[in-house]
Amino acid sequence: MTDTGTSSAHTAAEGCPAHAGAVPLAGLEYQQTPSQLYRSLRREHGAVAPVLLDGDIPAWLVLGYSEVSYVTGHDELFARDSRRWSQWENIPADWPLLPFVGYQPSVLFTEGEEHRRRAGVITQALEDVDQFELGRDCRQIADRLISSFAGSGQAELMSAYAHALPMRAAVQMCGMPHTGTDTQQLVDDLRISLDAAEGDDPVAAYGRVGERIQQLVKEKREKPGPDVTSRMLMHPAGLTDEEVVQDLISVIAAAQQPTANWICNTLRLLLTDERFALNVSGGRLSVGEALNEVLWLDTPTQNFIGRWAVRDTQLGGRQIRAGDCLVLGLAAANTDPQIWPDSQIGAENAAHLSFSNGEHRCPYPAPLLADVIARTAVETLLERLPDLVLSVEPEELTWRPSIWMRGLTALPVEFTPVVQ
Ligand code: HEM
Repeated sequence: MTDTGTSSAHTAAEGCPAHAGAVPLAGLEYQQTPSQLYRSLRREHGAVAPVLLDGDIPAWLVLGYSEVSYVTGHDELFARDSRRWSQWENIPADWPLLPFVGYQPSVLFTEGEEHRRRAGVITQALEDVDQFELGRDCRQIADRLISSFAGSGQAELMSAYAHALPMRAAVQMCGMPHTGTDTQQLVDDLRISLDAAEGDDPVAAYGRVGERIQQLVKEKREKPGPDVTSRMLMHPAGLTDEEVVQDLISVIAAAQQPTANWICNTLRLLLTDERFALNVSGGRLSVGEALNEVLWLDTPTQNFIGRWAVRDTQLGGRQIRAGDCLVLGLAAANTDPQIWPDSQIGAENAAHLSFSNGEHRCPYPAPLLADVIARTAVETLLERLPDLVLSVEPEELTWRPSIWMRGLTALPVEFTPVVQ
């Protein structure tokens, strides 16, 4: 066992020589900085590491910047339809990664011409979102959320703010009001489906999300409006209602968690790093720099599952078999020593792979919209609560023990209570 926690396991590797010495992903030590973790993984295993997913299921973790770019840029070799996975016979019905890996008839799992049709509709519908209006709506949502805790002088920003805001912004973009009991129920159900806490029933919650989105699609068919749902329904590609429901759920889910973690990781950087923390309220010009630095160093989607090899091929010196699963190591790629030889990671440019790359990358207007949401969230909070500080020592903040998302378990803060 090394200091990285990259211990070897052999159970699932038996019978698979390529996976001898594979690293169990669930055992990695996420409290350390991702650049150190992935550097040591790369030192030990190279740019493409044999890993074990939950239940000792073998897969490849692609750690190199050029290897992730190659995989995402070659759909003909590494594709999205998970039904080609050679491991399905070993996957139990209650496997925890099933919600992300199990095939669904949404844009996420389509390929080729069908993917271009579905993703084209989403791209067009998102392109027509007015960024000025989105910023204004986010400001209103932010103001409402802040007012709910401003009088108390303290808050746990992860649940009270960073998670709540992008969900409401996404729901509103799709044509629902961001307030009201109906919307609140949808927001709660989405939260439970994507990130269930103990005692939650994610399957029932996901069922209610599907019903509510179906109802929304029906309403917008009858009475279209200036929103993403109506634009998807009216697009000349002629998506069916079922396709629109599936893809709307994908859009809202894809928007929510990463944007929430982007907001929270940026607030953490602003509140803990002396380059920003000295004067948070005076540091408005630094918000953009902090948002960008987070995408390089603490990117919200640190690993993404994934791609499935279409045929036997080579990658980073490894023999990949048709049907193998590849996990995109986006955080590892961003901090790859090949692109940062002097260890000074971070740049003002946006050449990171945080929004992935290639055919299935986060569709072009989405990163811009996410930027509007995250920037407005951070700036509004700092304007409204200018003396905001952490209520614990920076070292006491803990990261969620997740290989997939990089986000805090909580972000407790305090400030002078605001009389309203
Ligand atoms: C308004 C906010 C957002 C929207 C509407 C959105 C939408 C989407 C959609 C629809 C996809 C599926 C694309 C496809 O399979 O063709 C996707 C993929 C993805 N998004 Fe986003 N997203 C948002 C924010 C973010 C943020 C903040 C991040 C991370 C910083 C992110 C990272 C990704 C990644 C890594 C993928 C997977 C791409 C792949 O398979 O290679 N997204 N997003």
